[in-house]
Amino acid sequence: MSFKKNFSWGTATASYQIEGAAFEDGKGLNIWDAFSHIPGKVFDGHTGDVACDHYHRLDEDLDLMKSLGINNYRFSVSWSRIMPTGTGEINPKGIDFYNRLIDGLIKRGIKPCMTIYHWDLPYALHLKGGWLNDDISDCFAAYARCIKESFGDRVHDFITFNEPQVFVGCGYFEGSHAPGYKLGKAELLRIGHNVLKAHGKAVKELRKGEECRIGVASASQPAIPISEDDIPAARENYFQSNYEAFAFSDEYWFDPIIKGKYPQWVYDYKEINAPEITDEDMALISQPIDFIGMNIYNGRYVKASQEGTQVQKLYDGFPRNSIGWPVTPEALYWGPYFYYERYKKPIIITENGMACHDRISADGKVHDPNRIDYLRDYLYYLEKATDDGVDVDGYYIWSLMDNFEWAAGYKERFGITYVDYRSGERTLKDSALWYKEFIEEKTKAAK
Ligand code: GCO
Repeated sequence: MSFKKNFSWGTATASYQIEGAAFEDGKGLNIWDAFSHIPGKVFDGHTGDVACDHYHRLDEDLDLMKSLGINNYRFSVSWSRIMPTGTGEINPKGIDFYNRLIDGLIKRGIKPCMTIYHWDLPYALHLKGGWLNDDISDCFAAYARCIKESFGDRVHDFITFNEPQVFVGCGYFEGSHAPGYKLGKAELLRIGHNVLKAHGKAVKELRKGEECRIGVASASQPAIPISEDDIPAARENYFQSNYEAFAFSDEYWFDPIIKGKYPQWVYDYKEINAPEITDEDMALISQPIDFIGMNIYNGRYVKASQEGTQVQKLYDGFPRNSIGWPVTPEALYWGPYFYYERYKKPIIITENGMACHDRISADGKVHDPNRIDYLRDYLYYLEKATDDGVDVDGYYIWSLMDNFEWAAGYKERFGITYVDYRSGERTLKDSALWYKEFIEEKTKAAK
């Protein structure tokens, strides 16, 4: 068993979750700055104002990454840090920050993988309707152009969107994330179409100039067949989007991007205000991309039965992480397997990891055996998928360090580095040391 040569071993973060410096050096407001300040929206009133203070601790964090032995780092750009109102004027101090980050990575032998949208929409654009505004795809294209022109000489891996399922599903349908809306179907379909067009226009911009690899990151909850006989049922269940909760589905977002076609029910939806979908739009949306990013934390067990496909109820006492998400290592086999089979694109696991109840022990260390156990088992299944012919190019642990976990604030710790939010002090957890050794071992064994 072995992973590819030149496999990307990394850790991942996102701008709002780690940077802090929310009101400094010319950065404009974004929807998470606004949302986190609304009482009751985030656990215990936490905000990303300071977060991990990564903005001020950049060099220290770069050294930390170097000490982990990772060869790749996935991070996101804060749109309103480099374009304070989302369009037009560029903030040189914002550009400078990402230049220092990118140069610092390269100097340490770490390849940057840049996500251009990890949910922090400039507030000025939100006031103009945000993703509902049909002009937003052009704004996004201009932002992507600025990114390519500023960083494209050194960054060669780009992700346009992180988890359209979650920022649309939680932000505009369920209301638990910024901007906290609960919109109806026609509006959601408009948002979806604008996001997909924005993706297409951004791909065009990123293709200009130096060669690069472009992908999109899916929030995927794989369907896991209970037995060999259940594989067809799982395959079908995985990619079934329905009108009721389509924002969360994989098919609704990824069929247009890869196959150039929405699921049929979208075309059949004829309500007033449904977005207009043209052939040109679909050609724009489905321009070739180079890989699919998959953020996988858990899956659902699926079984075929006389009455049709069934998603299994988890047994009492089923293993879970500290937020309550089930621990299902086989998800890292079946997710890549089914995606590769359907979309035929190389897969990069752009996020995987576990929230645990970590603390600094009396010996000054952070012992997180449950996280190590989780990572080892999930990676076992990923390696098995590779052996069975799935083209897997990389793996990123979520996250480099504990950070602002959206509506859960700082309550949940996903990092392999512990952050003391009072002092900002970082402590490598046992899992970080384990990951370093794991990378060494797998790199040696690579074919
Ligand atoms: C997401 C985001 C991350 C999260 C992580 C843990 O998947 O929601 O990409 O920003 O912090 O996944 O929930």
